[in-house]
Amino acid sequence: MNSVYLQAALRAGLVRNDGGTFWMPPQASTVASGVDETFYFIYYLSVFFFIVIVAAMAFFALRYRFRSEKDRTSGVTHHTGLEIVWSVIPSILLLAIFLWGFTGFVDLSVPPGDALNVRVTGQKWLWSFSYPDAGVTSNELVVPEGRAVKLTMSSRDVIHSFYVPDFRVKRDVLPNRYTVVWFKTEKPGEHHVFCAEYCGTNHSRMLTKVRVLARADYDKWLAETASAGEGMDPVAFGEQLFTQKGCNACHTVDGTKRIGPPLNGIFGHTVGLIDGTSVTVDDNYLRQSLMDPASQVVQGFAPVMPPFKGQLKDKEVDALIDYIKSLKE
Ligand code: CUA
Repeated sequence: MNSVYLQAALRAGLVRNDGGTFWMPPQASTVASGVDETFYFIYYLSVFFFIVIVAAMAFFALRYRFRSEKDRTSGVTHHTGLEIVWSVIPSILLLAIFLWGFTGFVDLSVPPGDALNVRVTGQKWLWSFSYPDAGVTSNELVVPEGRAVKLTMSSRDVIHSFYVPDFRVKRDVLPNRYTVVWFKTEKPGEHHVFCAEYCGTNHSRMLTKVRVLARADYDKWLAETASAGEGMDPVAFGEQLFTQKGCNACHTVDGTKRIGPPLNGIFGHTVGLIDGTSVTVDDNYLRQSLMDPASQVVQGFAPVMPPFKGQLKDKEVDALIDYIKSLKE
């Protein structure tokens, strides 16, 4: 775009510095421009016909308004030519929109054969990503640039929806069924991930990022993540996991009550449970609360924590427990 126009458009807010426009976020995937073209086509088509129809309506209402008895229409019932025109043109447009949308939908639904496989799990209220080929899990989606990525998604509880506006990618994530989306990006960057299906109290906090890395950085990230925690102080590793695994979305470590109980200073104390019994917070209670949280819920809280059974390695469980132990009141 000519820079004079670009500057004017930037000032008017029609184009944003990150490459987005007044209507749309930046186009960060290979399918984004096609999706936007379809959108703009339908949008401007609608604007055009809105203006034409409203103008014609206003003109006829004024020009042929009823002024005296001799203005009554003289029995005209229809006009075959006109009716064909206003049936055939919209039908052609409708067909064009359908074909355009349908081919786009097929493109979005069929991942290329050489795509990188990533499994996505949605649960109240966090995303996790696992890389079956590398045996790595992460709470951010990290991908290499210039390679198609196929996401096979499922939910551990209710319906969520995986949404990356910059990629024009959005698909429901369902319990007991896999859904698939794919995308390919051309350059490194960071993009927001939202949950686009209302899924309970913390729906609006069910956020994460896609980080697109250069190939070498991606390989480095994979290797580092695979060996995470090795040679690391368990408390420090636990603190890192506390954020990575999304614990901090519901639990604070400064005594503030959120969805779940604050975790500082709880170790060694006795807490009341919702079934009327009480329990001393020790290693076993913490482990049990990670694996099967609903079994022993602290009074004043709802049994909404997702089970982490099968999601955490033993060394990760140990590190999280060590971290919680280290938190003082
Ligand atoms: Cu998950 Cu909304």
